[in-house]
Amino acid sequence: MSNNIIVAIDGYSSCGKSTLAKALAKKLHFIYVDSGAMYRAVALYFLRNDVDMANHAQVEEALKNIHLNFHSRDYESHITLNDEEVSEEIRQMPVSEKVSAVAALKEVRREMVKQQQRMGKSKNIVMDGRDIGTAVFPTAPVKLFMTADPKVRAERRYKEIHTKEPDVTLEEVFENLAHRDYADTTRVESPLVRADDAIILDNTELTPEQQLQFALDKVEPLL
Ligand code: CDP
Ligand code: CDP
Repeated sequence: MSNNIIVAIDGYSSCGKSTLAKALAKKLHFIYVDSGAMYRAVALYFLRNDVDMANHAQVEEALKNIHLNFHSRDYESHITLNDEEVSEEIRQMPVSEKVSAVAALKEVRREMVKQQQRMGKSKNIVMDGRDIGTAVFPTAPVKLFMTADPKVRAERRYKEIHTKEPDVTLEEVFENLAHRDYADTTRVESPLVRADDAIILDNTELTPEQQLQFALDKVEPLL
């Protein structure tokens, strides 16, 4: 048995999961894995190749042709899809609108979870997503479940994407987050749900520094 430490961070869309996971990994010298980026990269492939999500054979075939890799530069996570850097493109609205439907597919989840579990086999990692504490690493010693007021989340995300996608309105961002939260919490395969042993972190009124301190207080006693 390896005794590496896994910090599992789950929660709703755009509530600061990756900001916290990145900061925590940097502070503790852990590896950061953005599991959402993997689902987003798969969704981008599906969009570009017009994969029919209702056709299981097509989905399986697509998954065989998708090769994802992470490259970490100063704890900023960069992902490649078949050797192409797609970190920027996967954050844009067309992918945000497609990703939850793709992530609901059984075949897609099975493959992503397998790859994620492999990454956590022997190293200390912080992984954020929707099912990390429930399905990917159910025995993780630290699990955080993040939430924040939906309006605050939409404003934060809008601020982030506004310069890159000036045509997208705050209302569209709000709707997209609401839609994804609904899809993610109601899907059949590994829905977003708080693990019984996950600690709730509502960061509506917390700065990134304050949320980092909250998490450090949970992880540092284990080191
Ligand atoms: O950063 P944001 O909260 O907008 O989303 P993300 O973490 O990049 O995840 C994008 C989408 O991928 C989510 O809305 C889920 O549909 C899906 N996802 C998932 O199903 N399971 C995960 N472990 C991570 C993401
Ligand atoms: O990973 P997730 O989609 O849950 O959220 P994120 O990308 O980490 O955070 C979304 C936006 O909220 C980013 O622009 C963060 O800088 C911001 N944020 C914040 O303003 N205050 C916090 N306490 C956490 C995140």
